[in-house]
Amino acid sequence: MKTLGIETSCDETAIAVYDSKEGIVGESIHSQMKMHAEYGGVVPELASRDHCLKIVDVLKDALGKTSISSIDQIAYTSGPGLLGALLIGESFAQGLSTALDIPLIPINHLEGHLMSPMMEFPEISMPFICLLVSGGHSMIVDVKAKADYEILGQSQDDAVGEAFDKVAKLLGLPYPGGPHIEKIALNGNPKAYDFPRPMIHSDNLDMSLSGLKTAVLYTIQKIEDLNEDIKADIAASFQKAVTDVLIAKIKKTVEQTNHSDVIVAGGVAANKYIREEFKNLEGILNIKVYYPDLKYCGDNAAMIAFVGSMMTPPKKKI
Ligand code: KG4
Ligand code: ZN
Repeated sequence: MKTLGIETSCDETAIAVYDSKEGIVGESIHSQMKMHAEYGGVVPELASRDHCLKIVDVLKDALGKTSISSIDQIAYTSGPGLLGALLIGESFAQGLSTALDIPLIPINHLEGHLMSPMMEFPEISMPFICLLVSGGHSMIVDVKAKADYEILGQSQDDAVGEAFDKVAKLLGLPYPGGPHIEKIALNGNPKAYDFPRPMIHSDNLDMSLSGLKTAVLYTIQKIEDLNEDIKADIAASFQKAVTDVLIAKIKKTVEQTNHSDVIVAGGVAANKYIREEFKNLEGILNIKVYYPDLKYCGDNAAMIAFVGSMMTPPKKKI
């Protein structure tokens, strides 16, 4: 069975084909990152217009030699995301489903991120813990069974990716800032600045990152010559502070749930420092840690097609 997945929740126009026997057999992604970079963040109106412009070409590219008539069902991101951007994907999906007379399956974007490592690692078994860290969300989810999730904790303010982006901006780095922070942090000393680790010892699994970002702001304001060495030290110290909080929360989650599989997903899961620090937890907590392939950490349609393929389509088309 072939599922066509469509993702347009933010600034990526992405389409992929998932074959139940062969896995992903075609995919294409057009990123709007460069377009939004000059504004320092995603401009919703521009995002919607660009999805409109690119979606047909992205479909053709994703299909490649696969005939559109061989597609059995359409899965699309129904939310959360930018309303206008979502509507482009949804309308396109509805049009295809009507024209081809095949079922249409709405998929929650976060569910796509949660399940994405299962494409590559079928041995992952539910229940598992997922730390979902992206530009819009930071949450710890207990994935009990297919379509049975419980949010155990989440950020009370900034999402982790958002904090990376804001700190990057303070350091004069381009948007999106996460990869740039990671890059310059390689030359920095993570112990140079003792930034706060908000809520690290709180009883619950919630997080807070805005205080950390503000601490970075106050530190920068006091520095007269913000040179490359100092920027690298700030980036490394910030990255370590965030990672320490995430690790502490996941340790607590493992204790509470006793689950032995931990998935780290979402755009921030592309960060190699965070990946390594979490991998080190395997021996300490006797758990297995999984991440999506780097290309599936950020927004993509493969994860939407994959989750769609696990769903029983509604008997009647929507
Ligand atoms: O999942 P995603 O592509 O989009 C959504 O927010 O849904 O995540 C994008 C976020 C951005 O905030 C970006 O700065 C962050 O993920 N990010 C990273 C890295 N790569 C992307 N943060 C830290 N380190 C990275 N290597
Ligand atoms: Zn996302």
